Amino acid sequence: MAQNRSHAVMSQRIEPHDSLDFFPTPLWATRSLCEWLLANGHALALLSCWEPACGQGHMARPLAEYFKSVHASDVHNYGFGSIEDFLFPAPHTADWIITNPPFRLGEQFATTAIDRARSGVALIVRTAFLESVGRYQSLFADTPPSDILQFTERVPMFKGRVDPAGATATAYCWLVWRKGAAPHGTRFHWLPPSRKRLERSGDYDPV
Ligand SMILES: C[S@@+](CC[C@H](N)C(=O)[O-])C[C@H]1O[C@@H](n2cnc3c(N)ncnc32)[C@H](O)[C@@H]1O
Repeated sequence: MAQNRSHAVMSQRIEPHDSLDFFPTPLWATRSLCEWLLANGHALALLSCWEPACGQGHMARPLAEYFKSVHASDVHNYGFGSIEDFLFPAPHTADWIITNPPFRLGEQFATTAIDRARSGVALIVRTAFLESVGRYQSLFADTPPSDILQFTERVPMFKGRVDPAGATATAYCWLVWRKGAAPHGTRFHWLPPSRKRLERSGDYDPV
């Protein structure tokens, strides 16, 4: 029987319930967010950032190229950053909280980050994260993002590794909550192609 290779099927990340969901983010995708924030008036070089699900630092490292300081933490010890469960009370905060959350905890990460960050929150998520009645009721209805940044290029993400040659059928976007900037409702933007410009030698070196 022919396999069902439809987009809907290929977009699913099927992970065991207790999985840490470690899918590192290609570094250029984080630079793409930072370039957008800079172009939209955020003086990142003066601000602090917290990457609260840092894994092996694939997102914290490019964030450090733009922000004044970056605090990196994760519930699991990957040898990078401090060990903290983001969903437990924390003694510190930051101007921005930016991460690629574990998929099954996406809503909890969003609400916790929005509560804690001083200036803003950005989460990279599958574009399909925008769907679902439950997520609308528990998150988007009362706390809509100020901006949705849809990648026009695919952002290949794989379990446990970044792969410069990898392909994916899954679409990703950044959800951004700029505090105090949503009275107009959510604004949608396309991120123009940027991978070629924002990839650096060393991005795919073993950690
Ligand atoms: C999709 S990966 C993203 C890794 C990294 N942010 C990146 O973009 O390369 C999700 C990460 O969330 C971490 N994680 C899962 N549950 C967590 C929790 N409750 N608190 C903090 N980190 C958590 C996992 O260990 C994993 O590193």
